[in-house]
Amino acid sequence: MPNILVTGSNRGLGLEIVRQFAQDGWRVFATCRHPAEADALRELAASHEQISIHRLDVTLAEDVRAIRWELGETPLDILFNNAGIYLEDNDTLPPLGGIRYEQWLRVLEVNTLGAVRLTEALLDNLAHSDKRLVTVMTSHMGSIADIETKGSYYYRSSKAALNAAMRGLAVAVRPRGIGILLLHPGGVQTRMGPNDGIPADESVRGLRKVIDGFSMQDSGTFIRYDGTAMPW
Ligand SMILES: NC(=O)c1ccc[n+]([C@@H]2O[C@H](COP(=O)([O-])OP(=O)(O)OC[C@H]3O[C@@H](n4cnc5c(N)ncnc54)[C@H](OP(=O)(O)O)[C@@H]3O)[C@@H](O)[C@H]2O)c1
Repeated sequence: MPNILVTGSNRGLGLEIVRQFAQDGWRVFATCRHPAEADALRELAASHEQISIHRLDVTLAEDVRAIRWELGETPLDILFNNAGIYLEDNDTLPPLGGIRYEQWLRVLEVNTLGAVRLTEALLDNLAHSDKRLVTVMTSHMGSIADIETKGSYYYRSSKAALNAAMRGLAVAVRPRGIGILLLHPGGVQTRMGPNDGIPADESVRGLRKVIDGFSMQDSGTFIRYDGTAMPW
């Protein structure tokens, strides 16, 4: 049975990723910050015995060490770095003035450093699996080429940095046969996403098609959920 580890799996896109992979027969390590409060995930796990729930805050080195220890020598087919936050920057004051640098650092810590930290920790597990794939939920807002409006400095920079770091990491891990895929899920109806976005199940179905079609020549590329290439 192939397996996948998903971060931020208690709600939104992460929960839907767990649902679809489990329905497809995968073994799923569903991680989240507060398992005891993850009601929707616990309900899902109750009806799929191949889902296990694990505590993981991607910003905490001790949590990352603990999940590494829990996995032991288990080969990991897919690591899905999904967890992310959007904190509003106050861009209403001309010209700037509302930036809160400690909040910006927090967004970088979760969205950028968190994903790299976990990926680095699980490289050996990935290297011993069949699929050997790291998927990264980034965003079109990380595309510098697309920036035509003000604001969202924290989030945009965190995803642009994530893209740069993961593309570099893709070069580093290629000799071990590990691939890295950067994914934009579309605008999706989640707590973070737009109300008029697409439903999470549609986005994840598209992402899974992209993942199914992955080959090493795609490693380091940035792809939308519908399979089209994203601008950097
Ligand atoms: N929805 C969209 O339109 C859209 C578009 C582009 C990209 N994305 C990306 O898609 C990913 C999933 O977002 P979503 O739309 O599903 O948003 P969401 O509903 O807000 O879910 C975010 C998830 O990340 C988790 N998380 C936050 N901080 C964490 C940490 N330090 N450690 C571990 N988990 C943490 C949250 O857990 P808690 O419940 O514990 O806070 C939650 O499970 C994010 O990376 C986001 O940037 C979303």
